[in-house]
Parts: sequence; structure tokens; C-alpha cells
Amino acid sequence: MCGIVAYLGDKQAEGILVEGLKRLEYRGYDSSGAAVCNADGQLNLVRSVGRISNLAEKLDKGHLSGTAGIAHTRWATHGAPVEKNAHPHLDHTGKIAVVHNGIIENFGSLKKWLISKGATFHSDTDTEVIPNLISHFYHKEGQFESGTTNAKKLEMATRLALTELVGTYGITVICSESPDMIIAARKGSPLVLGVGDGEYIISSDAAAIVNHTSRAIYLGDNEMAVVTRDGYITSTIDNIPVASKVEKIEYTLDEIELANYKHYMEKEIFEQPDKIRACLSGRIDLNEGSIKLGGVMDHARELVQARKLNITACGTAWHAGLVAEYIMEELAMLPTEVDYASEFRYRNPIIDQNTLQVVISQSGETIDTLAALREAKNRGALCIGVVNAVGSTIARETDCGVYLHVGPEIGVASTKAFTGQVTVLTMLALFIARRRHMSQQKLHTYLDALNRIPDQMAKILEQNDYIRQTVEPYCDKENWLFLGRGYQFPVALEGALKLKEISYIHAEGMPAAEMKHGPIALITKEMPVVFIVPKCSQYDKIVSNMEEVRARGGRILAVATEGDEDIKKYAEHVFYVPDTLEELQPLLTVLPLQMLAYHAAVIRGHDVDKPRNLAKSVTVE
Ligand code: M6R
Repeated sequence: MCGIVAYLGDKQAEGILVEGLKRLEYRGYDSSGAAVCNADGQLNLVRSVGRISNLAEKLDKGHLSGTAGIAHTRWATHGAPVEKNAHPHLDHTGKIAVVHNGIIENFGSLKKWLISKGATFHSDTDTEVIPNLISHFYHKEGQFESGTTNAKKLEMATRLALTELVGTYGITVICSESPDMIIAARKGSPLVLGVGDGEYIISSDAAAIVNHTSRAIYLGDNEMAVVTRDGYITSTIDNIPVASKVEKIEYTLDEIELANYKHYMEKEIFEQPDKIRACLSGRIDLNEGSIKLGGVMDHARELVQARKLNITACGTAWHAGLVAEYIMEELAMLPTEVDYASEFRYRNPIIDQNTLQVVISQSGETIDTLAALREAKNRGALCIGVVNAVGSTIARETDCGVYLHVGPEIGVASTKAFTGQVTVLTMLALFIARRRHMSQQKLHTYLDALNRIPDQMAKILEQNDYIRQTVEPYCDKENWLFLGRGYQFPVALEGALKLKEISYIHAEGMPAAEMKHGPIALITKEMPVVFIVPKCSQYDKIVSNMEEVRARGGRILAVATEGDEDIKKYAEHVFYVPDTLEELQPLLTVLPLQMLAYHAAVIRGHDVDKPRNLAKSVTVE
């Protein structure tokens, strides 16, 4: 949830570190800091509370000179967001600095033990035990043979320290006595080593690397990279050599720039027609009437023979999973269960060799989703990833999968990832369905409708100004309801989540019929109710629910199918979407809700891309 950047090369590190942190700010933004080793072997440190711009301002006043450094942007877990808790953290001798993503669960006992050995602590963080533990082994009498270089001592001390840690970490380490070396290591928290021309950039996210190099090594779990000016060596933490593959970072700098948009969320909403086209490209073939998913082809037999499908995910990805539950049962006739990833392993999920486990994650790093994947794997399920971030941990640990190909998502509120996930899951359902029972003609109908989705999305986006004007007078309302049935129930949940996470308005999404079982008591003219009511099999029933709300003075906004004039009898405002097959409607109906949430947050004056308390990728349980 925090961001790491480290640099070793021939340029001044400071600017590169700050620029990298800015690109990672979406991952965490309550404090930040950097430590740089200068040519005289001094380790200098600057930290600041708040946004990266505060750190940059501080650095302007007295900059950090040197060509090797580490930096961090923090999302607080242990200890309040104050300067003493910002990373990097130093050992008590001031020679060794560490930045850390993750949580050290046994930090309490380690801290006590280190204090008994003479270490002193200055923060409330779990991280501070790491530099002190490294320092303990580094300075320990008799630990190393005489003649061992400082660099070798640091490497070995780091390995020894890491074996004592319980929990998760992605760390980088720098030491004033080995100023030409940076160590990176990971367990449960991602790290990428960018391999440039005479320089190396290490980061928790390729976004901080891509403007320097597109060549990168994605460190595996329990792996370490020792980076020096002469090159790098990768190994396991316990020093077994690892032959790492240099891979190409799949996206370009343009994709992570804001361009002419005010916010990443806005950009990502508007990218959806192009990105969904990219997601479909090369996978559906209208001429042949076929669907090709290269990433699961080798397991096609298991997919076709499966008896049950489990889906695990969190947040928006879980909503995409709920849409898939309807689609899989309807199209593939595959019994499907959807679980919050965070709850999955606390039940006794029934899994056998005929169970498929689909794991959905934009980042591919969400710790609960990863833990659910590992649980399902241990129980023998074939695990399929529906992931956006190429090379991420979930993508690597699943048996097979289908990437979204919607480009990096930076806005904390997920938008194009949701539509990408639903698109991929629909293709997966069709892939299975055609191999089980679906006629060629029927498949063609779906492929044709899917192919039209990007243009239909573009049409919906033309209503942007109308949606902004419509939502404005409602922005002072503190409670909203989102209601839908069938395929629109998960969309209602997603609409409510979007609104609450960026505009801080309390919103609830639920099946429209459930309203009568309690929430109807809340309906007054102070509570806007958004009905998602495209032309579908349950249309008449939803209209009845709208009547019920209207009869109690509720204010209704609706998302409906183009041409449905009748709906205006029940709703004060209507956002229209083009007609499509019922199974594909969520791909369209969610767009007005994304725009509604975006405008509400902007009108209320919030920082849309950096909502309070949130981080883009949740890597702590
Ligand atoms: O990276 P993931 O898809 O695994 O993330 C899951 C959730 O944390 C994420 O969807 C979250 O709910 C978003 N902020 C919603 O907009």
C-alpha cells in the first residue's frame, strides 16, 4: 500500500527518487522520505508528513547529494502519520537505512530483544526493527571471518535479519559503509528491479521505472537482489542463486500520464471504450465466430469438465465476480459461488479436482486475494487469474489466466478494471459454454454484442456534462441508495462503493426487492435513490419498486435503456444507455454511476485520486 523507489547509477539520485515517488503517490500518501549516500560515504535523510510535494519542498532547501538512494511513500499501519514514523528508518548507529512495505508481525518481541542488546528506537513503526536487526548482525563480534568486505557483511547480515522476520516485506537497504550497493528483498510484497543503461531503479511498482527503462526483473517471493555498480545478483533469501528473467514492462509512459484530464479517475473512465476494445482484441473473432483465450488454452479440458466455480476477490473486483456469478450460471451453466477473499479461508471451502477457482484482482497484489488463492491451490483447485497488472504476484501464482489488457489503473477508485474484469469473465463464460453446449449461432450473437460494447460506451460518455449538472443539486445529500435486480444488483453495489469511497457520502447498494425488508424506512425526500433499470427480464418488478419509493416521497434517478420514455414517469432524472443483451448490460449501466460518483466528489471538493484513508493496492490483511 506504500511505495518504494531506489536508485543506483551515474545520475544524482534525489530528483529520480522524488519523481518516482510522485508516480507512486496513488499507493499511499500520508508521509514520505528519502535517504541518499554521498561520495564521502555519508548517509543523509529527509522525511516529511503529507504529500510528496511537501518532501520536494523540504529537499529544495538543502538537497541530498549522491548517486545511490532509497525512498518511500507511506500509508500508515503501525504508528500515526508523523515524521518520526515516515520511512526510511535508520539503525541506531545511523549507518543503515531501510524502506519497507508490508507488516512485521513479530516486531514487538524483536524490538524488546534488540533493546536488551543496546539498540535504541525512535518511531512507533514495525519497520524500525529491520535496520536494527541488520545492524545487530553487521556489527556482531565474530559474526564474519576477518577480511570480509563491508558489502559482503551487509549482504549476509541482511539475509540473517530477514530469516528472523515473521510477516510480509518488500524492502530496500542502503548502508553508508557500502555506498555503492543497494539490497532489495521481498516476501509477500512486490518489488521490481529496472535494469537501465548503467543504472538500476528498484520499485514496488513498474510505474516508477518505465520512464528510465522498459527492462525489468520481477523479484519472486523470498528472493533478494544485490545491486552494485558492476551489476546485480539475484538469489533466494537463504542464498540459493536464482536465474532471473529480464522482462519487458508492458506499458508506456503515456499510459501513466494524466494528459489533458484533471484526474486519473476521469481519464480512466474515458479510456474505457479503447481499453475494452483492447481487451477484446485478438480474443473474439466475428468472422470465424470463435473465442480465443491463449492464457487458459492449455487447461481447456479442465475448464469444460469442471463441476463448480469459486470466485474470490475484494471490493470492486468482488462486484465483478458477482456479475460473473450470473453470467457463468446463465451462459456456461456452471454452479458458481462468490466469496470475499478476506473471508474465504476462514470457512471450510469445499474444493475438489473438479472445482475451478477464479481469482480477480486489478493489482494482482491484494493480500487477502492472494491468501485465498493460496488456500484454494492447497486444496487442489485449478486457479485461474483475472488480473490486470502483468507480472504481479497473483498473476504468477495462478495456474493460468487471462489478463485484462486495460493498461495501468492509477485512480484509487477502480473503473476500467471493473469493465475489463466483466469483459474477461464474460469471454471466459463463453469459452466454456461453447465447448459444453452453446450453439455456434448463439455464440455469434454474444460476440456481435460484445464487439459493439466499446462504441456504446463512447455514446454513454457523451452524457458527461448532463450527469454533472444533474448530480450537482444532490451533492449535499449525505445518504444514497442504489437499487437493481439480477445483473444490476452488483452494479448497484458498485455504484454505491464508487460514491462512498471518493465523495465520502454514505451509500448502500442492494437488490431492489430487499428494500422492502427494512431500508424502505429510510426513504425521505432527503435520500436520493438510484435505480438501475435497463430493459431486462425483471423490468416490471423494478418499476414496481420505483413506485414504492415514489409513494414515500423518495427522489429517484434512473439508469435506463435508450428509448424507454415510460421510465420518466417514475424518475426525476434518467441516464440512458444503449440496448444490449441482458448479460452484457453491466458493462454499460456502470458508466453513468462512475461519472456520477466522480462529479459528486469533485463538486464536494475532494481529491478524487487520493481519497482519504485509502490506498490503491491493499497489501495488508
Ligand atoms: O487490486 P484489486 O482489484 O485486488 O483491489 C481490490 C479492491 O481493493 C479494489 O477494487 C477497491 O475496492 C477499489 N478502491 C474500488 O474502487
